Amino acid sequence: MLYPQEVIQDVRVLNDIVDVVGSYVQLRLKGGSHFGLCPFHSEKSPSFSVSGDKQMFYCFGCHAGGNVISFIMRLENMDFIDALKLLADRVHYNLPDQAAAPAAKIQAQERERTAELNKDAARYFYEELQKDSPEAKLARDYLESRGVHISLQKRFGLGLAPPGWDGLMNHLEASGQELATAGLAIQSQKNLTRYYDRFRRRLMFPIIDSSNRIVGFGGRALPNGEDGEAKYINSPDTPLFNKSRQLYGLNIARKTRVKEIIIVEGYMDVLALHQAGFANAVGVLGTALTAEHVRLLKRASFETVTLLLDSDEAGTRAAKRAIPELQKGGLRVKVLQFSPETNAKDPDEYLQLHGKTKFGQLLASAKSHIAFEVGLLKNEYNLTAETETNQRIRFTQEAAALIAGLTSAIETDAYAQEISDASGIATSAILAEVHKQRASMVHSEDGQAIILPTPRRPRPQGTIEEKGLREARKGLLSLVLTYPIAARALAMSGYLDPEEIGDETYSRLLILAFRNGESKAVMAPADIIATFENLEDQQKTAEIFASETVYKSNAAIEKALNEMAAIIKQAWFTMEMEALMQKNDLKAVNSLFLTKRNTASLYITMNDG
Ligand code: UTP
Ligand code: MN
Repeated sequence: MLYPQEVIQDVRVLNDIVDVVGSYVQLRLKGGSHFGLCPFHSEKSPSFSVSGDKQMFYCFGCHAGGNVISFIMRLENMDFIDALKLLADRVHYNLPDQAAAPAAKIQAQERERTAELNKDAARYFYEELQKDSPEAKLARDYLESRGVHISLQKRFGLGLAPPGWDGLMNHLEASGQELATAGLAIQSQKNLTRYYDRFRRRLMFPIIDSSNRIVGFGGRALPNGEDGEAKYINSPDTPLFNKSRQLYGLNIARKTRVKEIIIVEGYMDVLALHQAGFANAVGVLGTALTAEHVRLLKRASFETVTLLLDSDEAGTRAAKRAIPELQKGGLRVKVLQFSPETNAKDPDEYLQLHGKTKFGQLLASAKSHIAFEVGLLKNEYNLTAETETNQRIRFTQEAAALIAGLTSAIETDAYAQEISDASGIATSAILAEVHKQRASMVHSEDGQAIILPTPRRPRPQGTIEEKGLREARKGLLSLVLTYPIAARALAMSGYLDPEEIGDETYSRLLILAFRNGESKAVMAPADIIATFENLEDQQKTAEIFASETVYKSNAAIEKALNEMAAIIKQAWFTMEMEALMQKNDLKAVNSLFLTKRNTASLYITMNDG
């Protein structure tokens, strides 16, 4: 924690959650809480609630929850510290300086400075593009010739890095060193005191993150350039930029609020798609799709991805590798490729040749990634030669493994048919193979091999006992965090050790409750949430406070406390017992049995003393 708890509390209290959320989401008061459409998932009727009393939000649809800091973290895609800063700024609260650790502080300053320089640079490039110079004319004509009209140039903030070595250096009031840190200048190897512009005679594409900061640039060579110059260069890694963590156009695509995103390879492809009205397109910046990219997409609430990479060998390979990465993130994956007769290598070319109507139709017809993978398999095996029975069998087995991952019977059937056509093996035999593979997948010990279908509901309900345990854990924590007297009684009884609640976040909350019990302190839910810096813990904590049980008397509290503690303790016994049995430690099993018997009759009593 970089700031003391009191500072965090100050910032939180000064930023009323109803005000803050209300500036992003339209809220309506209903029965003591404010309701609106959840900004974190798509819905038609409001299940997103904001409580002024508890100073927290909770969505009954997608279970997103937390305090005002969590809300900003989620919505603006910021970490804890940046969200805190934003909220402090909002109310003109001066965060203490010395609190930040020196290294983190220097990094934060460098990030801020880089963002500032990038912004100034983007303005300079933009102005250069509007000038009356021969290069600017060339650049504007080039953009027009590629169908990137003025309005789109503006929307994406396109610019021009002029020819020459120091246009930007002379324009900005910053040292060469600073500009080099920001990735805008390069230090001369011959004379270390000299710096020169990194981007020269290039079309400039600012890369903007979800908090609307310009984090870096891409630069495309203009026509009639030098021999051997790279077609594109990107900003290097800087305190603010890493190309594996950015998607070009995401700042605009996320605002479309649709659930489907199109991923393409190039800057020009993104522009072409946006120009044609497909604003839900983003580009990878000349790199493989990473887990970091997937996280960005998830945070922007996308659910389905259509991979539309170049129809060449590199693009195909990239798509193949991207599929498992996206699936791991729980995203649905489709793959679209242009057939050779379209004469198009990438979406930009396709749109120029065939227009947006055709493209829209093609996009709507994009098939699940399975069809693409089956297609790749077909090329790996020799399926035409009658003599190669072995090849056909191996192809069929591998293809069956692919469609075994499908959940829809209709889709399974359709693909089985396709595999049958390719291999000459009967559809019934292929389906039998699929069922066999499905059965073994479910029983597989190796979790990696199981391709689980994406759950439709965020939470599978599990067995009644599991549900009871989940409720008991949340209920107990809510109780002891609300009533210090109950926390104190539980702590004094020694009935439940914090780690026996069986979850790290919950253990930390139970320890906190015990501490509050001792000092008879009641903490506001929003402050309890603020003891965690990561969203997942904040959300779990918010969930505890989301539903409220009203207890009529101390006796009712005591009864509930005992019931819920017993459920948790029994679950812990069962788990512990299983672990010991596994290890064949019979002595320990026996002694655990004894403890279990002794605690079964223990009753936790509260007293007001
Ligand atoms: P392409 O060469 O397919 O670019 O590279 P493009 O977008 O279709 O460009 P146009 O249509 O010729 O103008 C795809 C992407 O790979 C990265 C860039 O991000 C580019 O958009 N790339 C390409 C580089 O980083 N460096 C290069 O030299 C080439
Ligand atoms: Mn292209």
